[in-house]
Amino acid sequence: MLRSPLLTVMVQAALKAGRSLKRDFGEVEELQVSLKGPANFVSVADRKAEQIVFTELKKARPDYGFLMEESGAVEGADKSHRWLVDPLDGTTNFLHGIPHFAVSIGLERDGVPVAGVVYNPATDELFTAERGRGAFVNDRRLRVAARKELSAAVITCGIPHLARGNHDQFRRELAVVQSKAAGLRRFGAASLDLAWVAAGRFDGYWERHLSAWDIGAGIVLVREAGGFVTDLDGGDDMLASGGLIAGNEAIQRSLLATLKSV
Ligand code: IPD
Ligand code: CA
Ligand code: CA
Repeated sequence: MLRSPLLTVMVQAALKAGRSLKRDFGEVEELQVSLKGPANFVSVADRKAEQIVFTELKKARPDYGFLMEESGAVEGADKSHRWLVDPLDGTTNFLHGIPHFAVSIGLERDGVPVAGVVYNPATDELFTAERGRGAFVNDRRLRVAARKELSAAVITCGIPHLARGNHDQFRRELAVVQSKAAGLRRFGAASLDLAWVAAGRFDGYWERHLSAWDIGAGIVLVREAGGFVTDLDGGDDMLASGGLIAGNEAIQRSLLATLKSV
């Protein structure tokens, strides 16, 4: 599979940060048994991974801007391109020694996500997509699942954390989706939820209260795998609103109608 120069840059940054996270993950697994726990260690690992991504991308595209989870926004001379970087998506999993986390790097062009890389170093799965060029896991082309009925669909979601989001609203939404879907999952890394929709493992996904760095890359993956993504109103405002619904055309539409009925 021939990657464009742009995607190559993104992949190199994600792999390098991923190698650093993987080394630190080994340490975190050990720290589970200590009373102090690995929290401080993890936030250092997180910032270290972000610094690696920043350095790599800055070197390759010096003029692009950045929006990073840990360091915030960095303006670029080029106002139409901006990287969306989550160096460690799935922090809670990482902290608990659960091997489901990722480096997520998206690229926005004039506000539209146009390229995305999501890398889980624990499984060595590298998800890549660029607008108009398809979506891949490692070298294999991705297609969203073909199931048309919610009653056959496995839907993933995000459960708002302690002291975050609207818990009552989530429970109402969960109740109605649970009454229609074959099964529900909560894996704990938004970028991988989207990558797994692109891979046809999940039929659909919804979540609120996300940030642009969680979803910038994954949106491109789903769309390039033939899927659909909208915000919770059916519009295109996912990055700003932080809410999204993804799936193949039929499941995305049913999920949108179901959630609107809440
Ligand atoms: C979180 C994960 C999680 C989602 C959270 C996000 P983080 O990102 O993507 O799945 O439910 O709301 O904030 O904090 O692990 O980078
Ligand atoms: Ca995140
Ligand atoms: Ca993060």
